[in-house]
Amino acid sequence: MWNLLLLLATFFSSTNAATKDQWRSRTIYQLLTDRFSRGNGDNSPCPDLGNYCGGTFNGITQNLDYIQNMGFDAIWISPIPVNYPGAYHGYAAIDLYGVNPNFGTEQDLLNLVNACHSRGMYVMLDVVANHVGPVTPNYTQINPFNNEKYYHPYCEISNWNNQTNVEYCWLGTLPDLAQENPFVRQTLKNWIHWIVNKYGFDGLRVDTAIEVPMDFWAEFSMSSGVYTVGETFNGDPNYCATYQGCLDGILNYPLFFMMRSVFQQGQPMWDCRTFMQSCSVFPDQTILGSFVDNHDNPRFLNGTSNLNAFKSALAWSVTTLGIPIIYYGDEQGFSGGPDPYCREVIWPYLNQTTSEMYTFVTQIVNYRKQMQLWNYPWIERYAQSNFYCFSRGLATMAFTNSPNNVQYSVTYNPYTNGQVVCNIFWQNDCVTITNGALNVVLLNGEVKLYMPKSMMVSE
Ligand SMILES: *[C@@H]1O[C@H](CO)[C@@H](O)[C@H](O)[C@H]1NC(C)=O
Ligand SMILES: *[C@@H]1O[C@H](CO)[C@@H](O)[C@H](O)[C@H]1NC(C)=O
Ligand SMILES: *[C@@H]1O[C@H](CO)[C@@H](O)[C@H](O)[C@H]1NC(C)=O
Ligand SMILES: *[C@@H]1O[C@H](CO)[C@@H](O)[C@H](O)[C@H]1NC(C)=O
Repeated sequence: MWNLLLLLATFFSSTNAATKDQWRSRTIYQLLTDRFSRGNGDNSPCPDLGNYCGGTFNGITQNLDYIQNMGFDAIWISPIPVNYPGAYHGYAAIDLYGVNPNFGTEQDLLNLVNACHSRGMYVMLDVVANHVGPVTPNYTQINPFNNEKYYHPYCEISNWNNQTNVEYCWLGTLPDLAQENPFVRQTLKNWIHWIVNKYGFDGLRVDTAIEVPMDFWAEFSMSSGVYTVGETFNGDPNYCATYQGCLDGILNYPLFFMMRSVFQQGQPMWDCRTFMQSCSVFPDQTILGSFVDNHDNPRFLNGTSNLNAFKSALAWSVTTLGIPIIYYGDEQGFSGGPDPYCREVIWPYLNQTTSEMYTFVTQIVNYRKQMQLWNYPWIERYAQSNFYCFSRGLATMAFTNSPNNVQYSVTYNPYTNGQVVCNIFWQNDCVTITNGALNVVLLNGEVKLYMPKSMMVSE
């Protein structure tokens, strides 16, 4: 009897845990806790982006309106364990069970998760099970992996094409956990179950997924009980697809590279077709994470000042198959270079909710939601060297990477003759389907997202 009650109690205490099916409709805002808000009104600049800047859990809690008002219904926060001195990003743990005191207390973190849940927002935690902080040779500092025997012998990853090398060697100076050691394996599985349930996290972003064997991830993911999306930093869909199964989804780096090549470098848009065809190897594209920017790469706008190209890439990432992830600062047009310059502080901008990019992000996120794009298959409608068009349900997205006036007559479309469809970015930009065709005109590299006029929400 008591066992049954205990079982029921465990079940109900973890009902926040969200599955991949519940994540499919979500749109995620990725932030680094250290860079979002200090939570004390201090908006002075950060003297050194390579060290702590002062962001806190309370700062995020106080500024959830800023995120939710764009339409986001999930946040991804950076890792929370106690970290090596100066590791503001959280990817160099010292104590897996403690909370990084720079960000606040356990209670502050619980308050953040509860505040998100009461708004109907999910919280995704970034977790690291591949390595710990660079403490060599003094492993006694690590809780709980306090002995050299829990790690692979030192060798630095030197050949990313040799999977054994990638899995058994170290990422730089970070001690590489030996998941084949029974204590390490069981402890990591217990830890992930514990941390998800203690704080009520709804999903996990799994760091350095390709550096750990898949059989471990399958057990780890199962033990977590929530949706998991893995960082597979690799542009080859064939390689990345092998990780979908042991983890629910992967961060779609192949898409990231395609968008940079087409919209930033101006490669022919035939590449979009080739790319989408190559993605058929994924077991389920609807639960991959699609993103334009993140904390590990120079921002899109660092490589070009073309705002329309950036908007096109963002619109693609939000409307294509997958769960969109927008990196904090994209909504303010940030343009930082490589790590740590792409990890700007955003606090001076948290009152700027009418900026051009904030408005644009709000529009595309709400379009995805209103048209419930996740419910519809992805259909290519038109491909050319300077034009690409796809649809999902009655939503049609038209893209170009040309600065010129681009016109195409899209005869293969989801509409009926005489139907009026409008571009969400300009209420008066409506066209009537004539002779079966949707006539698209794009200027200056702009993107257009269409919906039937009858569905437009009037202002
Ligand atoms: C190793 O780390 C522990 C815990 O931080 C510390 O007490 C000890 O002095 C360190 N030993 C060496 C040799 O640095
Ligand atoms: C791959 O890496 C492992 C571990 O570093 C090494 O022992 C092995 O020789 C490498 N294999 C090849 C073909 O280079
Ligand atoms: C791109 O990044 C570099 C290095 O951080 C920086 O110096 C430069 O100003 C950035 N460019 C833009 C357009 O922001
Ligand atoms: C936003 O806050 C900054 C300080 O962080 C201030 O300088 C600026 O005037 C504020 N802008 C608005 C529109 O309130």
